[in-house]
Amino acid sequence: MGAQGAQGILFVERRLRIPDVLGFCGMTPTLETDRLLLRRWRGSDREAFQKINADLRVMEFFPALLTAEETDQAIVRIEKHFEEHGFGLYAAELRATGTMVGYVGLSIPRFHAPFMPAVEIGWRFAFEVWGRGLATEGARAVVDHAFRDLRLPSLVSFTVPGNVRSRRVMEKIGMEHDADGDFEHPGMPVGHALRRHVLYRLHAESHGAEGA
Ligand SMILES: CC(C)(COP(=O)(O)OP(=O)(O)OC[C@H]1O[C@@H](n2cnc3c(N)ncnc32)[C@H](O)[C@@H]1OP(=O)(O)O)[C@@H](O)C(=O)NCCC(=O)NCCS
Repeated sequence: MGAQGAQGILFVERRLRIPDVLGFCGMTPTLETDRLLLRRWRGSDREAFQKINADLRVMEFFPALLTAEETDQAIVRIEKHFEEHGFGLYAAELRATGTMVGYVGLSIPRFHAPFMPAVEIGWRFAFEVWGRGLATEGARAVVDHAFRDLRLPSLVSFTVPGNVRSRRVMEKIGMEHDADGDFEHPGMPVGHALRRHVLYRLHAESHGAEGA
């Protein structure tokens, strides 16, 4: 990388306050699976995440693609969430290559809904790595961490009914559809195709990890 590129990243990291080494990550543990390293975000993740958020295939069930600036802001929000709560949406890196391919992790929804308060488990991966079981693999590690280390009593996940890939991940990690909990997302206008959401739940005791 040329000097200008390095300076650019340094500038952005300072502006966004994104730590560049894991040593700055305080108490947040790094999670490892067979193929993934789940870790805090780095300034060098920006480009890959911008590409993911600008991909129509990845963003099919979201209201809009994200601009580069919006992705940068999202990283800042995710990092702030880690600082405030000690958990968050982990950047997912392929252990074999070091490539950042998406995220999987925990977040506290920022909107009001009947199922709140709750902690959500969520995921987003680059189209190029879909269908290899990576989201499920990462999500299982996050569930174990949530119940065993963080001692959360339960998790929710939600998406639009047509997002069958995401619903399949929810089912594979043991979540159950709570049809009575399905809701209208308040962030979407009434009548919008993405307003209706299905709600899935997973309880620590039924997962069997509590006290492990
Ligand atoms: C949802 C997402 C994270 C899944 O990632 P992934 O690594 O491909 O997931 P996995 O390989 O672990 O599992 C995907 C499952 O969906 C299944 N699937 C894929 N396409 C499908 C389809 N069209 N219909 C039904 N099932 C489908 C796969 O077969 C697999 O299930 P299986 O293991 O039983 O065969 C990925 O598609 C993504 O990033 N989507 C865009 C972002 C998004 O929608 N996030 C969720 C918002 S709530």
